[in-house]
Amino acid sequence: MNPTTAPSLRTPTIESRLPRVGTTIFTVMSALATERGAVNLGQGFPDFDCDPRLVEAVAEAMRHGLNQYPPMAGVPVLREAVAGKVAALYGHRYDPGTEITITAGATQAILSAILAVVHPGDEVIVLDPCYDSYEPNIELAGGITVHVPLTPGTFRPDFERIAASLSPRTRAMIVNTPHNPSATVWSEADMTRLAELLRPTDVILISDEVYEHMVFDGASHQSAARFPELAERSIVISSFGKTYHVTGWKVGYAAAPAALTAEFRKVHQFNVFTVNTPMQHGLATYMANAAHHLGLPAFYQRKRDLFRAGLAKTRLQMLPSQGTYFQCVDYSAVTDRPEEDFCRWLTIEKGVAAIPLSAFYADGYEQRIARFCFAKKDETLALALERLAQL
Ligand SMILES: Cc1ncc(COP(=O)(O)O)c(C=O)c1O
Repeated sequence: MNPTTAPSLRTPTIESRLPRVGTTIFTVMSALATERGAVNLGQGFPDFDCDPRLVEAVAEAMRHGLNQYPPMAGVPVLREAVAGKVAALYGHRYDPGTEITITAGATQAILSAILAVVHPGDEVIVLDPCYDSYEPNIELAGGITVHVPLTPGTFRPDFERIAASLSPRTRAMIVNTPHNPSATVWSEADMTRLAELLRPTDVILISDEVYEHMVFDGASHQSAARFPELAERSIVISSFGKTYHVTGWKVGYAAAPAALTAEFRKVHQFNVFTVNTPMQHGLATYMANAAHHLGLPAFYQRKRDLFRAGLAKTRLQMLPSQGTYFQCVDYSAVTDRPEEDFCRWLTIEKGVAAIPLSAFYADGYEQRIARFCFAKKDETLALALERLAQL
């Protein structure tokens, strides 16, 4: 038969690189919240604006013509500001020239770190429940995700299980403290134990510290950068979006020893190449005043306490919230519906959106727990609490 010469409007089918990925629960719940006019305490972002001085600093950079490509690793003033902040808070001095890279949010930093470190067939340990980008990122690198649960009930790291999961194939481990979604914070003893556990291995620690400035009740954030042994094997990742209430700007950074940074930058260079220039200059100017990040624990602790005082009057049982801007609740006194079902019901029938904790587990583990985000205006929290009091 002659090959057909008629044009074909058929899109070739491709084999999915991420066959198990669908629409995330965050998108689903946010859409449902909008559709139903519910108070959205689901997705983790502030509903209040950032400091106008930060916007002005960015506008000023634009007016000054800082609108072209910056250096691949980020503008030097911002890398220096990050190095200064990390040294002041955690006592580890990263070289801004060779050890700090400005990224398109923490999300891109995590992907670049994984692509730089993980080869096909390598194992990566993640602690469930965990942020939803880790596993698809590992999959894109051809790696194998090894899920180790945090201790049910307390969400503390279970070092026996972590130790048992280490194998000669373990290439990396991802730790997130302060932790989304459980709002737990790793202690100095936890980090010391982690350092001991990894000492005989060549495992790279990918330390997701996007909530580093949201630790409450006088506790301090235990960055991997504080622990010399861990710092030598870690890619420490943070996010300006979380710290300065500008999640939509998508600017973050990765700090790592020069040898790791060199590999990280190879991926970064051919992934995004650079991150938008005026935001970087604006952030550098704004960061010069340390009060802007040092004031964050008090700012969010007040909101947490306000939210918890209201929750205490409901039938929801609060879990501790030691850090982040999340508050988890056990709703088993209200209903025994599964978590996703409960969150849909809460959004549709009661007008408050939340996220089921099962969404953060690879196996959808159910505990009758939902996560609220309290990075909201006081009046938003008050409205949500009024509705939750009727449960
Ligand atoms: C644990 C964790 N890591 C990373 C991110 C992503 O941060 P960014 O918005 O800077 O990409 C988030 C955002 O929700 C998060 O909760």
